[in-house]
Amino acid sequence: MTDNRKTVLSGIQPTGHIHLGNYFGAVQNWVNLQDVYRCFYMVVDYHAMTMPYDVKKLRNSTWELIYNLLAIGVKPESLFIQSLVPEHTELCWIFNCFCSHGNLSRMTQFKDKSQQSKESSKEDFISVGIFDYPVLQAADILIYKADAVPVGKDQEQHLELSRTIAQRFNNQVGKEYFVLPETLFTETPKILSTADPSKKMSKSAGEKHYISCFADEARIRKQIKSAVTDTGEATEGMSPGVENLFMLLNGSAKVNGNQSHLDAAAKMLKDHEQGILKYSELKAHTADAIVELTNGFKKKKDELLQDKRAVKDQIKASSAAIRKVAQETVKEVKELTGLLNVKY
Ligand code: TRP
Repeated sequence: MTDNRKTVLSGIQPTGHIHLGNYFGAVQNWVNLQDVYRCFYMVVDYHAMTMPYDVKKLRNSTWELIYNLLAIGVKPESLFIQSLVPEHTELCWIFNCFCSHGNLSRMTQFKDKSQQSKESSKEDFISVGIFDYPVLQAADILIYKADAVPVGKDQEQHLELSRTIAQRFNNQVGKEYFVLPETLFTETPKILSTADPSKKMSKSAGEKHYISCFADEARIRKQIKSAVTDTGEATEGMSPGVENLFMLLNGSAKVNGNQSHLDAAAKMLKDHEQGILKYSELKAHTADAIVELTNGFKKKKDELLQDKRAVKDQIKASSAAIRKVAQETVKEVKELTGLLNVKY
């Protein structure tokens, strides 16, 4: 059977929790794309080594993220671990020779991260890995001949570089071998910190600025109860904090298929227009909807944690199956570039 679906690929770093900002901004989209495309999603542990990191924690964070992604709805056959497909690094080396130093030094992420790296290591340490990060990312994408890559705007420059590398490679070997990958931007809501709606929901701002997809109920209720709605300044229309609560409520209710929450949201929107919305009511519905959503995630995660061995075996098997695709590409690339292939 031939598979005519387009290939989608994306990667996520094994750092910390998945919060509602990550979920509504990216991971929910990954889940939905699985119905339409042939999807490859990976946890990029090789990329996680580029910044100073804790050697003892990396493997655990990788598995933790696997459990979390599965619990949220990523299918096991779409999901793999980057370091279980070492061909990515082999292709990265080859691409290093098809990518100019100038291109890499112009990457804004390199400039930002080398600054961060310097500050966090206190010894002025900037790894070659952080410089080469986008070339490994190009290998991640091109090795599967991905058509589309769902990422945020911050990754646009990396995608552009992947196309530059693919094009240079194709020109040099005289064959349209690599597919030029497109960036897949999907309109996704930008979720704000409930504690400070002038900021994006993010982990780096501290504990109160994000709501984990696996947080316990009491904590979620407390965070929503203390959500900042109006800052006191007169705003035209809806304040960002209130809009954020509506987004969380509607977004969660849609996933839950909970019509009564959606109806309540529509009614409260009218109340808001008339200036009679009670924020306590909005918060109560929002907290209920989020709790319903995250209870689903937690239940699924508990089931997975009952048999960690089974999950690990499943992901190792999907990684091995996906590796076959990568091996085929590397074999062809070695032929095209004058390298030798090991024949077992
Ligand atoms: N650089 C991406 C990020 O920080 C993660 C990533 C690594 C990635 N390899 C990828 C994303 C391949 C898409 C495709 O978000």
